[in-house]
Amino acid sequence: MPSSTLTVTDNRTDRTYTFPIEDGTVRAMDFRRIKTSDDDFGLMLHDPAFMNTASCRSDITFIDGDRGILEYRGYPIEQLAEQCTFLEVAYLILFGDLPNARELDHWVYEITHHTMLHETAKKFMEGFRYDAHPMPMLVSSVAALASVYPEADNVHDATNRLLQIKRLIAKMPSIAAMSYRHSLGFPYVYPDNDLSYTENFMNMLWRMVEPKYAANPVLARALEVLFILHADHEQNCSTSTMRVVGSALTSPYLCVASAASALAGPLHGGANEEVIRMLDEIDSIADIPAYIQNVKEGRGRLMGFGHRVYKNFDPRAKLIKKIAQDVFGVTGHNPKLEIALELERIALRDDYFTSRKLYPNVDFYSGLIYQAIGFKPEMFTVLFAIPRTVGWLAQWQEMLDDEEQKIARPRQIYTGPRSRRVVPMAERELAAAAR
Ligand code: ACO
Repeated sequence: MPSSTLTVTDNRTDRTYTFPIEDGTVRAMDFRRIKTSDDDFGLMLHDPAFMNTASCRSDITFIDGDRGILEYRGYPIEQLAEQCTFLEVAYLILFGDLPNARELDHWVYEITHHTMLHETAKKFMEGFRYDAHPMPMLVSSVAALASVYPEADNVHDATNRLLQIKRLIAKMPSIAAMSYRHSLGFPYVYPDNDLSYTENFMNMLWRMVEPKYAANPVLARALEVLFILHADHEQNCSTSTMRVVGSALTSPYLCVASAASALAGPLHGGANEEVIRMLDEIDSIADIPAYIQNVKEGRGRLMGFGHRVYKNFDPRAKLIKKIAQDVFGVTGHNPKLEIALELERIALRDDYFTSRKLYPNVDFYSGLIYQAIGFKPEMFTVLFAIPRTVGWLAQWQEMLDDEEQKIARPRQIYTGPRSRRVVPMAERELAAAAR
């Protein structure tokens, strides 16, 4: 019977160690037993960018990157996108099971009745320049809510935590809409409790003088499905940030602001904005081969391509392509779609991309849809942050309840100088003059 253990020999000492293998992993702390002497610190694992490190156990999201499978709490993303609302999926991600009708009604009621922002939020918003990017406005405003809800610091109280979770999920669209209206110089629109989560978001974005906002049902549903697809994605850069910051028992408003900051980067959630810029830069189908050649020669990356985990296809990208057709049926074709399709076609036949397993990711087509619905590229990452707040909060809660977790604190391999002597300023001046 093969045993589920790993045996390693330290050739420095000829000693052999045996460690258990559980769930395809070994414990990094077991390696600390490997020492050359009693005062040796013990062996560490060096894993820049966490390429091969499982930082937690999680029941929330399953991804099989080779087969292109994504499941929330065991439910395939395709079924959730087809059959559920965003708030239903949010409930699933947070509580582990799909709600029944009564639970869903109560949940929707609770979220709907927390969408209002404290009036001070308006004042924070007014401090931003008229042309400020909405993502820093969102990040700063969410962080500022920590000052409005100081009781949120009590992260070990489950009832208090749930209240903050509801507030955050409810208020993210309100802040996002406010940041958008601010950039246009339009007055802020208050939430409408008769509308669904996405319809109300559209109302806060786009209602002008009409007494009641009526969202186009196809566009509202497309936004709902996009929100479902973006709700969680296990231990990505922003979620890991959420867990790391949360591990210091920081207020969830500051944790979400930190996670959203990580999301803003162009290699993560900011890629959707970059895809549109790239398609603008390419301009016409005839320019695609030259653009691809530049990328292959190391001048830039094909934005919206490649993924740390998906090495075959991103199931979200497949679903998004379908939604695009529904949206364009209402809005008319986005002329950039032709460029995107041709870019994808050429790249998927090119050995540079196929040999590196680079396929379109979630961001490749989402921007085209957002643009067709009427969003400026600056809003795209904000649109990602709204649904991902659900995943961040579920992962934060799981981390806080996990007895194995402590404050996150990696080690390093120190490579700098040691034990230097501070020399007086006059000597430093002399040394500089001699250089
Ligand atoms: N275009 C061109 N080449 C690429 C691309 C790309 N989009 N992505 C990776 N490569 C190349 C790299 O240059 C590298 O080539 P090399 O082996 O010759 O040096 C190889 O593919 C592996 O790339 P890594 O950077 O090591 O892959 P990693 O897993 O670290 O990066 C990432 C993943 C950041 C997503 C990367 O593919 C990328 O930058 N993509 C473009 C940005 C993007 O779309 N990000 C959104 C990801 S989805 C999300 O976060 C929601």
